[in-house]
Amino acid sequence: MTNQNTQKRITLLQFDEEIRKISVKTLNRYLVNFSILSLITKQAHWNLQGFNFISIHEMLDEFYESLQKYVDIFAERLVQLNCTAISTPEYLVQNTNFEEYPSHISNSIDHLRELHIRYASVANSLRQDIEQENADAATIDYYTQALEELDKFVWFIEAHLN
Ligand SMILES: [Fe+2]
Repeated sequence: MTNQNTQKRITLLQFDEEIRKISVKTLNRYLVNFSILSLITKQAHWNLQGFNFISIHEMLDEFYESLQKYVDIFAERLVQLNCTAISTPEYLVQNTNFEEYPSHISNSIDHLRELHIRYASVANSLRQDIEQENADAATIDYYTQALEELDKFVWFIEAHLN
């Protein structure tokens, strides 16, 4: 994933250049990941049917709100790090590692299975980047907060699937 759009904004914030570059690289990845997770969460929220409809429908809206919160946090952190935050549809499609979300499913458990795989994969990636300190301290702090949320979502989903 590349994002060469350094803004060269005038700022008094001082970052070690190597750490800034690593932060930008991982932030770009999570801006894409969380943007897509929020989109597919609404896709499931709208279309699911069947077992526990209303509770899953409402649970997914809470997940969506939280995912959107981190989309905003990661985007604004990129700008603070003198980069352009990119979450255009074209950029998302070009830079995602997710498989295409199936549009033909409707069963609530099928939707939860699809979300489960993708939420867990981003949670485990965040965990790895936190452990390897692949960002500056403040960005790592955001990753930790986002990971707490995703781990909880994975747990909630697994409680439906197990
Ligand atoms: Fe809704």
